[in-house]
Amino acid sequence: MNELQIKFASISLEPMENKSKLPIIIQGGMGVGVSSWQLASSVSQLNQLGVVSGTGLNTVLIRNLQDGDQGGQMRRALAHFPDQAVVKSILQTYFNPEGRKKNGTYKLSPLPSLAPNTLFQHLSVLGSFVEVFLAKEGHSGIVGINFLEKLQTSNLSGIYGAMLAKVDYILMGAGIPREIPGVIDHFTKNEAASLRVTLSEARSGSPEILTTFNPQHVFPDLTFPALKKPKFLAIISSSTLATHLARKTVGTIDGFVVEASSAGGHNAPPRGVLRLNEKGEPIYGEKDHADLNTIKALGLPFWLAGSFGSHEKLLEAQATGAVGIQVGTAFAFCEESGISEKWKKATIAKWATPNEPSHDLVFTDPSASPTDFPFKVAPLVGTLSDPQLYTERPRKCDLGYLRQITADATGKIVYRCPSEPIHGYLKKGGKEEDTKDRKCLCNALMANIGIGQTQANDYHELPLITAGDDLIHIQKYIKPNHHSYRAQDVISYLLGDR
Ligand SMILES: Cc1cc2nc3c(=O)[nH]c(=O)nc-3n(C[C@H](O)[C@H](O)[C@H](O)COP(=O)(O)O)c2cc1C
Repeated sequence: MNELQIKFASISLEPMENKSKLPIIIQGGMGVGVSSWQLASSVSQLNQLGVVSGTGLNTVLIRNLQDGDQGGQMRRALAHFPDQAVVKSILQTYFNPEGRKKNGTYKLSPLPSLAPNTLFQHLSVLGSFVEVFLAKEGHSGIVGINFLEKLQTSNLSGIYGAMLAKVDYILMGAGIPREIPGVIDHFTKNEAASLRVTLSEARSGSPEILTTFNPQHVFPDLTFPALKKPKFLAIISSSTLATHLARKTVGTIDGFVVEASSAGGHNAPPRGVLRLNEKGEPIYGEKDHADLNTIKALGLPFWLAGSFGSHEKLLEAQATGAVGIQVGTAFAFCEESGISEKWKKATIAKWATPNEPSHDLVFTDPSASPTDFPFKVAPLVGTLSDPQLYTERPRKCDLGYLRQITADATGKIVYRCPSEPIHGYLKKGGKEEDTKDRKCLCNALMANIGIGQTQANDYHELPLITAGDDLIHIQKYIKPNHHSYRAQDVISYLLGDR
């Protein structure tokens, strides 16, 4: 056992198990595919919590298969999936041993919806099974998977797939994940579980809408054994939400990640009326700081996130009563992360060069995401952060993870995305002002990890890099005379070992 492996928090907090061993560092779940199985595996083998992103894994799986599954890892993991008839049919549909033709268009998955078809559910279960299986393969470290609560139409199948692969932790943010611990309890017994879906612009008296995943219907030929119950951590940014979840959740919450607005990816919107600073970013105030004393008083373990990427910040977090920290930005650009080499290099070249004139800060964009959440954008040449390139992209919605679900005047369910073609969005009752500056995160985030679509009109989907404010400190993880760094470098730095 090396020194890093000994560095575990050993605490006894009720109502956690006695002397639970909790990781000091959680490597944040970063979608799509940034928190890859390779990254989570490395972190987990260093005895911290390695987390894979649970977002869009149906698409990640089938695009890797269409690219020939270089290295064979997808197929190796699939060979361990309990239902080999389903695996065979997926491979027949999507696996291409020669890989795609240059500039070939990827075959798509069915879109997520309230009542997704069986193929979507198979792909979603298999996608997270594969990612967790590979992250856990060959060692005994712990692995988590991260979901966004807002993606309600794909979370149930994703959670079930991760549990089939014996995931140790489920983490969820970007919403109020009150029902998830109850879902986990049902899935341990392979029972159906449902989620109440929040309709966008729901009127009072709107009917309750449920989405359900029933393992017995989706895999009728199988009898599954009871599944291990993973721990559940809610990612929150206010003590009010933490208190609400601790009191009102059906099932058990095992802890909180308290994320500040400087973190990469989506950020919780500021409280109250949205006000922008002179650069056009949301203004956060005192009210947006989580009250850590209130959170501590709940008696559950918690970790702090958002610009905690140093040993000093780790100690600062622990001094507040936190077990440790969740870090994303530092891991996002290390060798093992899923971001493609080209964009990793470009990001490191720009932000790790001291006194680089173009060393500008990350922009908290209030409109980039089709959700109402601000989204951090790292401005980089050749990506959709360039207004010209953004304008040139023909709008198209063909992945659909972030679609809003709403009901029209007759009560019919409608799916729409503010980033889709504007005329279509307006026809579905959307407002024109809501489409302004919206970016197709679904396609851009796939492009970030090297599996961007070539659309039928020969348009190549472009990336949009996200990172937290900590990006300006990225140089500290890179050893002298190196141009890249590994997850181990980040962990050593965070633990104060170098
Ligand atoms: C590239 C990137 C993508 C992210 N994507 C997600 C995501 O999909 N879901 C999520 O809950 N958090 C996401 N995050 C937030 C991280 O999980 C983590 O909480 C955060 O990065 C911690 O703050 P830091 O960026 O200052 O280290 C993302 C962060 C980064 C940098």
